[in-house]
Amino acid sequence: MPILYRGGLFFLIMNIVYTINELQSSLGRFKEDGKSVGYVPTMGALHSGHLSLVQGALMENDICVVSIFVNPTQFNNKEDLEKYPRDLERDCDLLHKISSKVVVFAPSVSEVYPSPDTRQFDFGQLDKVMEGKFRPGHFNGVAQVVSRLFDIVKPDKAYFGEKDFQQLAIIRQMVKMLNLDIQIVAMPIVRQESGLALSSRNERLTDGQKIIATNISRTLFQSRDEWMPQFSVKETICKTIDKVNSFDGLQVEYFEIVDGDTLQPVASWGESEYIVGCITVFCGDVRLIDNIVYIAENQK
Ligand code: PAF
Repeated sequence: MPILYRGGLFFLIMNIVYTINELQSSLGRFKEDGKSVGYVPTMGALHSGHLSLVQGALMENDICVVSIFVNPTQFNNKEDLEKYPRDLERDCDLLHKISSKVVVFAPSVSEVYPSPDTRQFDFGQLDKVMEGKFRPGHFNGVAQVVSRLFDIVKPDKAYFGEKDFQQLAIIRQMVKMLNLDIQIVAMPIVRQESGLALSSRNERLTDGQKIIATNISRTLFQSRDEWMPQFSVKETICKTIDKVNSFDGLQVEYFEIVDGDTLQPVASWGESEYIVGCITVFCGDVRLIDNIVYIAENQK
């Protein structure tokens, strides 16, 4: 059902749309009146991390579009795509509890990709490291879907979480490359009280694994607070990996300490004014990512 807009006030009823036409005709009136649109792209399975992005968008814009779309082109593992949690009804409930100024856009695959997207983005070294190295093609798929969704929603600002640190850098680069007039807003990682970074994948952890997984962030904090002040970058990397691997059920895939803008590894703490450690850990067969800022003198 469409969104009704009357004389500067918002009357949103059942604000979920499935097609590009529905979305664009609903948003058209807002935009004509100079109202601003904030946008939060998601793949659903929403948690407080997503909701903090929505809240950020609502604080800075007149309306917030949240897309819920599990994008097949960014999965290089078919099983991961199949296992990705999906519960549209629950997601909509959560969003509508926040505000009636949220519009949910839940398109089908054929709506987003009426024909296969064959675009290849060249991100230089940005996608050759970390996630990009372990998930070939992943960021190309992210860039395909986000650029497509940006083109559909045409937001003023779009909100991304810092948990997916490399994704954020890729999106910023994509916006530059495509010369888009969209402001990218980065929002801090939301953690459970235990320190575990919120992720839709946490749903796949058993209760026991959820406890074990708290050792990831705990080790990252120890790495920043205890090891970084007294050890070299290389030693800090080794200590962090060894510590995480020492917990039964955790296996580090990679841990790199990088320049926060270029994402290239640094050799010393003095090499950059913005240094971040990025980790990916298997907890059983669930792949979890997290990061920690070591130095942020030059942070955007
Ligand atoms: O971060 C995600 O959930 C996805 O990569 C995104 C940005 C929604 C694109 O599918």
